[in-house]
Amino acid sequence: MGYKNLLTRKQDGVGWIIINRPDKLNALNSETIKELYEAFLSLQESPDVRAIILTGSGEKAFIAGADIGELAQLEFSSGKDYVLEGQELSKLIENLRKPVIAAINGFALGGGTEMALACHVRIASDNAKMGQPEVKLGLIPGFGGTQRLARLVGKGIAMELILTGRIIDAQEAFRIGLVNRVVPQSELIPHCEALAKEMIANAPLALEYAIKAINIGLDKTLGEGLLNEAELFAKCCETEDSKEGTKAFLEKKKADFQGK
Ligand code: COA
Repeated sequence: MGYKNLLTRKQDGVGWIIINRPDKLNALNSETIKELYEAFLSLQESPDVRAIILTGSGEKAFIAGADIGELAQLEFSSGKDYVLEGQELSKLIENLRKPVIAAINGFALGGGTEMALACHVRIASDNAKMGQPEVKLGLIPGFGGTQRLARLVGKGIAMELILTGRIIDAQEAFRIGLVNRVVPQSELIPHCEALAKEMIANAPLALEYAIKAINIGLDKTLGEGLLNEAELFAKCCETEDSKEGTKAFLEKKKADFQGK
């Protein structure tokens, strides 16, 4: 399917979504948010795709935030509808049945940090700059930043970043646990591709259930999370892939997973 603001492709089991508004530093306007929703849904359903990489086109930006031209027009009701749509996208990404990697290739500000937070793993290039500068615009993060940033890096650091609106560099993002790793810009794409391939060598349903177990568990008590983990582990035991994976190990062969 053709998109106005995205480039997508499928290659060796990896689905790529590249936000393509480089002249606007890949800022997220409403149209791009809708297209991202469609693109993630479509790659989730695609049998050729086992993991997804989200990045931005050009060398300067991942996503420089929500489109400030649009933010300027919002009133109470339209503002709520606007962020609910962005939140739906972030929930879709977070709960996708396939691993999603954010390849953060430059500015990831406001909605950019929020989209990265929704991804399962974040890898930053050494020129990345991240932050939630919404308070500088008289706003607060609305695509999940107040919730996911605090859950990922802790309440104190999230409070400081959101209340100052400070932009941090890639090393600082790594230090506080906002990104998993920092790599030289020229290595970002091959690094993320290799990471995606490392994941997709594993059983697809196990990846899906692992994502689900972690996500559901973080919203529950430890006891409830453990029960849910047991349920999903049991579901894995019913899959052909768990029979294949365990048998292949015992026979010292490479497993051939079918996602069944
Ligand atoms: N929304 C809409 N347009 C944006 C944008 C955003 N979030 N971020 C950048 N752009 C546009 C600029 O308006 C400019 O467009 P123009 O060439 O038509 O004037 C273009 O992208 C390039 O940006 P520019 O500001 O010239 O680049 P820079 O290298 O000087 O600065 C930033 C880069 C990221 C520091 C700066 O663009 C910025 O502060 N952007 C807003 C970040 C932000 O507050 N995001 C959170 C929003 S909730």
